[in-house]
Amino acid sequence: MSRVIYVNGRYQPYHSAAVHVEDRGFQFADSVYEVIEVLAGKLVDAPRHLERLERSLGELSMPAPASRGALIVIIAETLKRNRVTDGIVYIQVTRGAGPRDFAFPPAGTPPTLVVIARRQSQSKIAATAQTGIRVITRPDNRWGRCDIKTVMLLPACLAKHEAHEAGAKEVWFTDPQGFITEGASSNAWIVTASGAAVTRPLSHHLLGGITRRTLIDTIAGEGVKFDERPFTRDEALNAREAFITSATNTVMPVVELDGNQIGDGRPGPLTRTLRGRFHHFADIQAPFV
Ligand code: PDD
Repeated sequence: MSRVIYVNGRYQPYHSAAVHVEDRGFQFADSVYEVIEVLAGKLVDAPRHLERLERSLGELSMPAPASRGALIVIIAETLKRNRVTDGIVYIQVTRGAGPRDFAFPPAGTPPTLVVIARRQSQSKIAATAQTGIRVITRPDNRWGRCDIKTVMLLPACLAKHEAHEAGAKEVWFTDPQGFITEGASSNAWIVTASGAAVTRPLSHHLLGGITRRTLIDTIAGEGVKFDERPFTRDEALNAREAFITSATNTVMPVVELDGNQIGDGRPGPLTRTLRGRFHHFADIQAPFV
């Protein structure tokens, strides 16, 4: 449970923490975010996450709410005040508040910055990784710039709800050609019969996951074959292994796709190896300046 939330310069009690009702994040989803894993009080791959945050802001011509150094100080303080050692930190930036108008607000409108720290049990995630997760596929009905990490997450919420109803944990979106774009909140991977790890190349159709990026380093470091190319739902159904990557799960085995067992229906050996090695290749640092 979070105790305090950072909102625009103040650490506010969880139950009363608030932004203005005419915040553009609320009215227009005019907002970007990041989720960073926290492990034993340290941030996992913070430089890459903050770089992506800066990129998202830049792509939307949104002013930065704070320097990188100031943001790290706020993150460290939020983690401390919430006594979070294992979990996540959530950072959200909006274009600020003002009378509802589609066009951007006047220059100088202060952006909104929210930082939330939340505990997440490592042992719970590890237990899920022991059995793996189920995934369903759905047509990708999101916008054309999924490479920007915006809070425009309604298609992902609707799809995740369907997954939940179907007893699954994640959705893999498919493009009109039948290729998987990515997960609703993760990147999608398969392992081929020849032992190659396959994931779709970056484009406007998917988010450049930081876990994906660091896993590519892990794959290279471990001498595993890597094939960055699109794959179809049919190929995934016949894959030897499958998994997802995200800051909240690192590497999570997928054992079922649309009700069909992947491989022998248990987490695959390469997936388990990559999961075990991931943090050796990540940049894990205490959030001090
Ligand atoms: N989601 N693709 C989408 C659409 C995502 O929302 C995410 C992350 C990823 C993986 O990115 P990363 O490895 O940087 O976490 C890919 C976060 C965890 C979320 O929305 O909670």
